[in-house]
Amino acid sequence: MEQLDNTEIRTKNDGLISIRDLSREDILSLIRDSQKIKEEKMYVRESVVRSNSKIASLFFENSTRTRVSSETAARNQGFYVNGFAGVEGTSVKKGEPLMDTVRMFEGYGYQAIIMRHELAGAARFAADNLNIPVINGGDGSSGHPTQTLLDLFTIYEDKQRIDGLKIALVGDLKYGRTVHSLLDALSLFDVEVYLVSPNGLNMPQWKVADYTSVSGKVPIVVTDLKEILSKLDVLYMTRIQRERFHLGIEGEAEFKKASGLFVLNRDLLERYAKKDLIVLHPLPRDKNNMEISTDVDNTPYAKYFIQAQNGLYMREALIRKIINTSSISSSTFPAKSPRALLKRSPGSLNLPIIDGQKKGDKYHYRLDEGTLIDHIEVNQGLKLYKMLDLDKISGSEVVLCTNIRSKQFERKDVLAIHKLILSTQQLYKIALLSPKHTINIIKGQRVIKKERAILPSPLYDLLICNNPLCISRSEHNEFARSIFYVESDDPLQVRCHYCEEIFSRKEISIAY
Ligand code: NCD
Repeated sequence: MEQLDNTEIRTKNDGLISIRDLSREDILSLIRDSQKIKEEKMYVRESVVRSNSKIASLFFENSTRTRVSSETAARNQGFYVNGFAGVEGTSVKKGEPLMDTVRMFEGYGYQAIIMRHELAGAARFAADNLNIPVINGGDGSSGHPTQTLLDLFTIYEDKQRIDGLKIALVGDLKYGRTVHSLLDALSLFDVEVYLVSPNGLNMPQWKVADYTSVSGKVPIVVTDLKEILSKLDVLYMTRIQRERFHLGIEGEAEFKKASGLFVLNRDLLERYAKKDLIVLHPLPRDKNNMEISTDVDNTPYAKYFIQAQNGLYMREALIRKIINTSSISSSTFPAKSPRALLKRSPGSLNLPIIDGQKKGDKYHYRLDEGTLIDHIEVNQGLKLYKMLDLDKISGSEVVLCTNIRSKQFERKDVLAIHKLILSTQQLYKIALLSPKHTINIIKGQRVIKKERAILPSPLYDLLICNNPLCISRSEHNEFARSIFYVESDDPLQVRCHYCEEIFSRKEISIAY
C-alpha cells in the first residue's frame, strides 16, 4: 500500500472565510482583543490615516450592519475604504465574473477584501484566486463567520463564559447563515444547544452531524419555544430569510407558512424566561413579521443592539489580526484549526492474488490481456462503462456482465476490458462509484496485479456539488473548479471546498 501523505492545505493568509477555520483559542483570543478595544476605545485613539493602506468593501448582496461596521472598523484604523454596496452601478450588471471583479481590487493595491455574495463559497473562491486576504461577510446561506464572532463576544461579555450555557437557535435554521456558522463555532464549546424552527426550515442534517462529530453532543430539537424558555441562558432569534425562498406562488406560500410562528414578546419572556436570559438577533428583524416585538427592546433581556455595536469592535480586532497592523495579541492567526482540511495523495491497496486465474465463467468473458474491473456494485456496471468513456475507445473490446453471482457479495457487475490500462482519473471514478471494487491487471491469462484504488483528497473536477447555490455549479458561470475533500472512505463522505456541505455517495453526481 502506498504511503498517504497528510499535509495541511492552507499555505497563505486567506483571511477569514469560514468559522470552521478557527480554533477555540482563535475565537477566545479575538474576544479578548475586542473587549480590550471596546474598553479602551482604541478605535478613537488610533484614527490616523495610513498612507497607501486600502481595504475593499465589496457587497454584492444587501447589508447594513456588516458593511457599515466593517468599513468603520477599517477607517478607524486609518484604512482608506472603497468598493460598492450592492451591484447596481457596477460591471457585475454587465455580466462580469466574480473572479475578475475581485482581481481588480488586488491590482489597485488593496490590502484586503471584505465581501458579501449570494452564492455559497464565493469568499473561498475569491481567496483561492487572490494573494490578499478576504474576510467573508456572508456567502449565501452558507456562513457568516464575523457575525458568529461578534455573537460569541456578546455572549461572553454578558456571561463571562461560553462553556456551560444553554443556547437556543430559533427561526430560519435552513437558510440562515448566521446560525450555520454559530452552530459550527458552538461545537468547540461545552454548551447545550436547542434548535427551534418552523417545519421545513430545520437545521440541515449534515450541519447537525458536523456539530455532533466535533462536540460529541446532539442538539435538542424542539417545536415549542415556551417549553424550553425557562432553561435558557441565551435565546438567539433569527429572521425568516425571505430572499432565499423560491420566487413564485410556492415560495410565497412556504414563506407565509413559516413566518409569524416564533414571535417573541415581553409577556412571554416575563412569564417563562430566567431573569438573566439574554436575547440576541443578528438583525435586521422583519417589520412585516416582527420575530421580536418592540416591547422587548427596553427590557434587560434585549442585547441585540449592543450585539450589533459589538460588531464594530470585533471587526476591528479581526482586521488587526488578519492584516497585522498592530499586534495587540501575539498569537498567530488563524492558529492550526482542529478542522484543517487534510491533503492526501492517491494510493492503492494491493490485494492478494489467490490463484492468478481470472477467466470468469465461459459464458461471461475470457480475458487474455487487459483490465478486469471486478466487484462493481450490482447494476452499476453500465453507468461505470459510460463514466469511463469506454464507449469511445477504439481497439479494445469491452464485456459487461451484470448481476452475476459473487462469493464476497451476493451479486456484482464485472467489466472486462481487453488491452487497456486505466488512467488515474478513470481509477478515481471507479473508486467513487464502487468503493469495494477490485482491479485485476491480466497478462497471458494470469492476474499479475490486483488492487483497489484509494481516492486522493482533494478530488479535482470529479464531482458536481449538489447544492444548487454553490459557486462551483456550472450554471452560475463563475468558473470555480470542483474540489471535494474525502471525509470518510467507506461509506464515502465528501465535503465541498466552497459551500462545505457534506455528501454521501448517493447524494452526489460524478462528472462525466
Ligand atoms: C444577517 C445576514 O445578513 O445574514 N444580518 C447581518 O449580517 N447582521 C441576518 C439576516 O439578514 O437575517
